[in-house]
Amino acid sequence: MIDSRQQNSLVARSLRSVWHPCTQMQHHETLPLIPVSHGKGAWLFDTEGKRYLDGISSWWVNLFGHANPRINNALKEQLDKIEHAMLAGFTHEPVVQLSEQLAERTGHMLGHCFYASDGASAVEIALKMSFHAWRNSGRTEKQEFVCLKGSYHGETIGALAVTDVAIFRDAYGPLLQRAHVIDSPDARNAQDGESASDVARRAAKALEVLLQEHADTIAAVIVEPLVQCATGMAMYDPVYLQEVRSLCDRYQVHLIADEIAVGCGRTGTFFACEQAAIWPDFLCLSKGISGGYLPLSLVMTRDEIYRAFYDADVARGFLHSHSYTGNPLACRAALATLSIFEEDNVLETNRVKATRLTAALAPLVDHPHVTNFRQRGMIWAFDVGIDDADLAASFSRRFFSAALEQELLLRPIGTTVYLMPPYILNDDEIDWLAERMQSVLHQVLIQGRDT
Ligand SMILES: Cc1ncc(COP(=O)(O)O)c(C=O)c1O
Repeated sequence: MIDSRQQNSLVARSLRSVWHPCTQMQHHETLPLIPVSHGKGAWLFDTEGKRYLDGISSWWVNLFGHANPRINNALKEQLDKIEHAMLAGFTHEPVVQLSEQLAERTGHMLGHCFYASDGASAVEIALKMSFHAWRNSGRTEKQEFVCLKGSYHGETIGALAVTDVAIFRDAYGPLLQRAHVIDSPDARNAQDGESASDVARRAAKALEVLLQEHADTIAAVIVEPLVQCATGMAMYDPVYLQEVRSLCDRYQVHLIADEIAVGCGRTGTFFACEQAAIWPDFLCLSKGISGGYLPLSLVMTRDEIYRAFYDADVARGFLHSHSYTGNPLACRAALATLSIFEEDNVLETNRVKATRLTAALAPLVDHPHVTNFRQRGMIWAFDVGIDDADLAASFSRRFFSAALEQELLLRPIGTTVYLMPPYILNDDEIDWLAERMQSVLHQVLIQGRDT
C-alpha cells in the first residue's frame, strides 16, 4: 500500500508533473528518482539526508563543486546590479569581460564571442555562421557538413543532423539534413600493430578522400576535440586535429571545434585544441564555463569570419538571437569560474589529482571484465564486457542504481563506465571514489551472474 505521504512525496509529484530529460519515463517504475535537497562541494544530498558523490559533475557541468562560495558570492553581487538586459543594442560589463578573457586565452586568434544558452544552440550557431560566412563570400554552394562516426553535438534539429548516435538520432532521421559521416579517430579502432596516432592519421586520410571529391559543397567539418564523450568517451590522438586543421586549410573548409564537453580544463588544457597547437574557425563552449551554475553557451570565431558579416546590408549580418543571449548572471558565474582557474592554478593541481585517481583505479586495468581503460585529463573510462545481450542492455541502469546505493552518482553510457568528477575532490574523496566505483562494478557483475 502506498500511503498518502509517499503519494505526495517530491518524487511522486515530479513523476506526475515533470517530463524528465533523456529518460524513458516508464523506467521510473523501477528506477529510483532522487529528490535533491541541496549540494555541497562534490556532494549532492537528497531530502532524506542521504549523500551522493557527483562522479559525473551533474552531466559534466559542475567544475568547482555545488554551492561554491566564490561563485555564490559573485552571483549575489551581480543580482543587486542587473539580472538581465537584452544584448541587442545593449551591452554590460560581465559579457565584455568574459569575451575579452576568452579571446585572451586563444591569443586573440578567436576574437569575437557570440552567446546563447545551451550547448546545442551554440552548435546551431556555428553551423549557421559557417554556411552564412561562405554565402556572404559568394560561395553559396557550400551547404554541407561533415561529422565523425559516433559524434554527439546536441538534440536540436541542426545539431542532431551532425550527431551520429543512433538512439538519439534515429527517430528523427526524416527531419534531418544529411551530413557526411566519416571514420572516427577513436584509438580503440587500432588494428594490429597500430598506435593511436596511426589510427588518427588513417581517419584523417578518410577525410581527405571525402574533401578531394566534395570540398566545393562542404561548409565545415565539426569535431569534438580529443574525446567524443557522449558516444562513450572515445579518446583519440591530438595529431588528428592537426591533420584536420591542415586539410581544412588546404580544401577551404571551416573547422568547428565543439568543446562543450571537453573545454574548460576537462582534457588537461583549458581548451582541448591547445594539445594539438591548433585553433579552429569556430569554437563552441558551454557546460563548465558557468561552473555548472547557469545555462550559458558561446561560439568564438576568427576575425575573418566576423568580418564576412560586417556590412551596411542588414541581411549580411548574423541575425540569430536568443532572449537570454549573454545573460549577465550567467556571464558573472563564468567570470568567477575563470578566476578560480587562475587563483587555484587549477590545470596544474588537476594533474596531481588525476595521477592519484589513475593510480587508485589501476586494478581495473587487469580486471577480467574490463577493456580499454583510458584517461585524458579529468576523464576516465573503461568498457565492461558482458556476453548476455539483455544484461548488457540493462547494465547502465543497473550500475546507476547500484552506485546510488553506495552513495555515488554515476551513469554509464551503454557498457562504458566513466568518471568526470568536479575538480575539487580532495585526496580522501579521490580514494573513496575509486574504491566505491570498483565495489559497484563488482556488485553489478555479481548480480548479473545471479540473474
Ligand atoms: C560535445 C557536445 N556538444 C553539444 C552538447 C549539447 O549541449 P546541451 O545539452 O547543453 O544542449 C553536448 C552535451 O552533452 C556535448 O557533449
